[in-house]
Amino acid sequence: MRTGLTRNCEQVNQGSCYLGTRGSFESAAKRFMEKDLDVSVAGRSFMITGASSGIGKAVATAIAKRGGTVHMVCRNKDRAEETRVEIVKETGNKEIYIHILDLTETHKVWEFTEAFKRKFKLLNVLINNASSMLTQRELNTEGLEKNFACNTLGAYILTTGLIPLLEKSADPRVIMVSSGIMLVKKLRLGDLQSERGRFDGTMVYAQHKRQLVVMTEQLAKAHPNIHFSVMHPGWVDTPAVAKAMPDFHQSMKNKLRTPEQGADTVVWLAVSEAAAARPSGRFFQDRKIIPTHLPLAWTHSSLEQKERFMSLLEELGKAFQPH
Ligand SMILES: NC(=O)c1ccc[n+]([C@@H]2O[C@H](COP(=O)([O-])OP(=O)(O)OC[C@H]3O[C@@H](n4cnc5c(N)ncnc54)[C@H](OP(=O)(O)O)[C@@H]3O)[C@@H](O)[C@H]2O)c1
Repeated sequence: MRTGLTRNCEQVNQGSCYLGTRGSFESAAKRFMEKDLDVSVAGRSFMITGASSGIGKAVATAIAKRGGTVHMVCRNKDRAEETRVEIVKETGNKEIYIHILDLTETHKVWEFTEAFKRKFKLLNVLINNASSMLTQRELNTEGLEKNFACNTLGAYILTTGLIPLLEKSADPRVIMVSSGIMLVKKLRLGDLQSERGRFDGTMVYAQHKRQLVVMTEQLAKAHPNIHFSVMHPGWVDTPAVAKAMPDFHQSMKNKLRTPEQGADTVVWLAVSEAAAARPSGRFFQDRKIIPTHLPLAWTHSSLEQKERFMSLLEELGKAFQPH
């Protein structure tokens, strides 16, 4: 069955190979430089949201293998503990810490961010990987739509709250895990809480992934001492895809990337010197900067619209900041 998402993916795919199947990874990997990931990151500290599963878990494992300290930010304690045990067993690295946080709870994101800064004196890399794709509109205790609270505002508060700590650390980097599906969306300012019209969880998610791209560009301009990037992992066989898009998962199953393949560009952006040498604020797939709009697309926004979006996030963030 062709779902709205499948149709949108086809639309994206007609423009280029943004869809990011397993085959396109294997073909892209032929130009990867092996030495880029042949590095030790011992003594460097990495925070990864949604590290209990899928791409986040693969990223955490890859960084642990290279000796980095890993802060796993997860909402489910049992899943997080299980993953930590697996990572320690596989990598021999015991510097893996769990922090329990539901990113849909805005005041908790603030509390966590402030507590982390008090407790830890170092954070070199923040990876905003977690993402929510609730198919029904649900509100958090602050009255914000939960997907937005997690995918956009959660990433914004965590990032801006941790910027002072990142700026004190060497070679600081922030990576946002977006999605190629954002190519079908234009930044929308008028309905951040998805109150209008029929609620389509997939399209709401696509809008949030566009918001992450704009946020990354704008934060990169405002904070030139930090290297920001945003990326599309390709289409990856993870629990999120199987659960939220069963038809898409079924129709694509043999073509989906492994979590390790999906994690490759995140890891490259997080650890390699080559990534830090690229301009800040750009959108990547398969270790390469790619356009944030399809050819001839109607999805461009003006600078004023992008700045207005950032002001709205700042206002919302402040409104729910505990005193
Ligand atoms: N898989 C793909 O094909 C694909 C394509 C494009 C982009 N992406 C992006 O890749 C990233 C990772 O997704 P994935 O495919 O690896 O999915 P996944 O295996 O389901 O992982 C998502 C992670 O986010 C966590 N999470 C969800 N809601 C959360 C919340 N409210 N608070 C804290 N953590 C929360 C999940 O925790 P639980 O274990 O508790 O659920 C899980 O650890 C996402 O940003 C996704 O949008 C994936």
